[in-house]
Amino acid sequence: MSDSIILGIESSCDDTSAAVLKGNKILSNIAANQEIHQQYGGVVPELASRAHQQNIIPVVNQAIIKANIQQKDICAIGFTRGPGLLGSLLVGTSFAKSLAMSLAVPLIEVNHLQAHILAHFIDDANPKPPKFPFLCLTVSGGHTMIVIVKDYFDMEIIGKTIDDAAGEAFDKIGKIFGLDYPAGPIIDKISKVGDGSIFKFNKPKLDEYNYSFSGIKTSVLYFIQKEVKKNPDFILENLNDLCASVQKTLVEILMDKLEKASLDFNINEVAIAGGVSANSGLREAMQKNAEKLGWNIYIPKFEYTTDNAAMIAMVAKLKFDRGEFADLSVSATARYDIEEEFKKEI
Ligand code: KG4
Ligand code: ZN
Repeated sequence: MSDSIILGIESSCDDTSAAVLKGNKILSNIAANQEIHQQYGGVVPELASRAHQQNIIPVVNQAIIKANIQQKDICAIGFTRGPGLLGSLLVGTSFAKSLAMSLAVPLIEVNHLQAHILAHFIDDANPKPPKFPFLCLTVSGGHTMIVIVKDYFDMEIIGKTIDDAAGEAFDKIGKIFGLDYPAGPIIDKISKVGDGSIFKFNKPKLDEYNYSFSGIKTSVLYFIQKEVKKNPDFILENLNDLCASVQKTLVEILMDKLEKASLDFNINEVAIAGGVSANSGLREAMQKNAEKLGWNIYIPKFEYTTDNAAMIAMVAKLKFDRGEFADLSVSATARYDIEEEFKKEI
């Protein structure tokens, strides 16, 4: 692996992030979160684009200063081309193109989902990187899927959600409980002082390795509406156990399919990636399976779980070594399947 310096830029949703990578070592990884969305209970696309425009230059500058490099040291610029919110992606894409042109360095497009998975190869993401082929449960606010990662650029999606993503389920159920957006980390924190066996919610029955999360959201909603009619303080009095029970159910749904995939494909190298991989219940369940089923598990460091530019720089670096550059006419794309990425001629 060459020691080239790569600048990564991520702007697919509501985090504006820039990172500097040298070899596979992160020199800086800066992110500006957009608190503006909290009051709306979800990301408002137009406000996200505007905040990206305000944040992008300060964030990139900070990443360069923190890495202790100069603009002229940058060998290439990697940016998230998709999937994500188009308006948000356009800000990062346009900025990356202009900077690449002014510095006269190659531009490299990156698939955001592939980046969540390949974040495992950042120098300090894991004590040791996963071995191919490995299974990667990729769980975020927009996606939930089980991927067989055969190589850096050879991945197969074997299962995915047919409706909501796991992170979306955490966030929407949290909203029912009156929690702020994003509710995933809040539910995780509250769960630590609750009893997850108090409330039972039905789990979906789906074939193969596919997921569904809209049913549990609806059953929580009906259950809460019924209980609040009897006792208006029901949520307040039971919040800890409600959060713990929801988290336990969501983690079980995720792990049941991952275990089935590991068994059916006879793969014991198992990783998690994406924002929901920060969840402590999911991390504990992975740890248990390492002991019970002999899995070699890969759980990325917290800063590489939720959206970050370090993972974008990592993929850009792998593409840089292959000489896989984007044309300056490249445009952002809201939908961008990982498998589509590998069908392209190189
Ligand atoms: O990967 P990410 O930052 O953005 C997307 O690409 O979607 O994931 C964000 C999602 C949100 O739904 C958020 O609630 C969830 O990840 N999340 C968590 C935790 N931390 C972030 N969900 C459960 N437990 C957490 N600790
Ligand atoms: Zn993401």
